[in-house]
Amino acid sequence: MHLTKQQIIDSDRIKRLNIINSITGIKPGNLVGSVSKSGNTNLAVISSVVHLSSNPALVGFIMRPHGEVKRDTYNNIKETGAYTINHIPTSHTEQAHYTSAKFDTEISEFERCGFKVEYIDGFDAPFAAESQLKIGLSFVEEIPIPSSNTTMIVGQIEHLVLPEEALKETGYINLEKANSAGISGLNSYYELKYKASYPYARVSEVPNFETEN
Ligand SMILES: Cc1cc2nc3c(=O)[nH]c(=O)nc-3n(C[C@H](O)[C@H](O)[C@H](O)COP(=O)(O)O)c2cc1C
Repeated sequence: MHLTKQQIIDSDRIKRLNIINSITGIKPGNLVGSVSKSGNTNLAVISSVVHLSSNPALVGFIMRPHGEVKRDTYNNIKETGAYTINHIPTSHTEQAHYTSAKFDTEISEFERCGFKVEYIDGFDAPFAAESQLKIGLSFVEEIPIPSSNTTMIVGQIEHLVLPEEALKETGYINLEKANSAGISGLNSYYELKYKASYPYARVSEVPNFETEN
């Protein structure tokens, strides 16, 4: 099957949205935890988390257009300067999915969707207790992306919590052991299966994979 730009434009709106949201492959499944100054906790499923740099340790995610639509996550991050990124545990994909519903600000998705709130002393934002790999971040900057009317939220890692058995000597993390879930599109969740690790790719060490072209 081959779809051209025009055929994509002419597709039914929902079908187009699903296709374009799926084509980048498996995305990390995360829940962003935050709290307002008045104490309302919020949890939202987010699939756009991306590593930016390791020193300083920065992570970004894409915040969809806000403005007319209320965005508790965005408002809380701006109010408190802190938030958490919690890997969705494979045991809780359905609960995680429903955090995307447009609940009123006073309703906590933690409570409504079955996640326990957990705090680290001295850090303002709430973690999801059920998540095995979780990051506490302080807000660094927001970068507008005018072409998509979205914003990249950049945060600095302040805390990292993960299962000891998932962390290898070398620092690699086995996400299967952390029971982390992956996301495709806007409604499909995957379990992850470790396949292999390869050494740093030096030209002189590339195996012979050549094919005739
Ligand atoms: C699978 C999935 C992935 C999502 N990924 C993102 C994302 O990367 N960025 C975003 O802004 N919203 C994303 N959303 C939508 C948010 O979860 C949703 O808008 C949520 O209600 C946030 O609203 P709140 O901040 O008002 O709680 C996603 C929704 C689903 C179902």
